[in-house]
Amino acid sequence: MAFERTYNMIKPDGVANKHIGEIITRIERVGLTIEKMELCMVTPEQAAENYKEHEGKSFYDGLISYITSGPVVKMVVSGENAVKTMRKLMGATNCAEALPGTIRGDFGLTVDQNVIHGSDSVESAEREIGVFFG
Ligand code: RTP
Ligand code: MG
Repeated sequence: MAFERTYNMIKPDGVANKHIGEIITRIERVGLTIEKMELCMVTPEQAAENYKEHEGKSFYDGLISYITSGPVVKMVVSGENAVKTMRKLMGATNCAEALPGTIRGDFGLTVDQNVIHGSDSVESAEREIGVFFG
């Protein structure tokens, strides 16, 4: 077990479809702590920095325009194994493959609009927290 911080973000579709409350409930229900949280727009600079590993891929331009298209809820979540636990709560990247009971499985339909972002490692988490919370 390891105490970790992770970066999570309810994406524009999750906010527009009014799933903020349900997602926060699920995070708290497993015992994780929301340390910071804010409703805001993602700037093009933050989007590019957050998704720089995907630059050049076919879905990159759509991903950047989508993540900057409407309000998101950015948050820092902490607790034991926070990175992995959040990825488990989120479910598979493609909502069509995400299991029922996961956030993406319950609230999304596609791979492009998949409700929530979560860091994939402790290193990514610290980098992303820096990008979004300074
Ligand atoms: P995220 O970074 O958003 O938490 O998602 P993830 O780790 O599960 O997936 P990742 O591989 O990092 O991909 C980032 C986002 O790009 C979009 N994507 N589209 N059309 C496609 O094949 C495709 N693959 C990825 C998704 O919206 C994904 O969340
Ligand atoms: Mg990712």
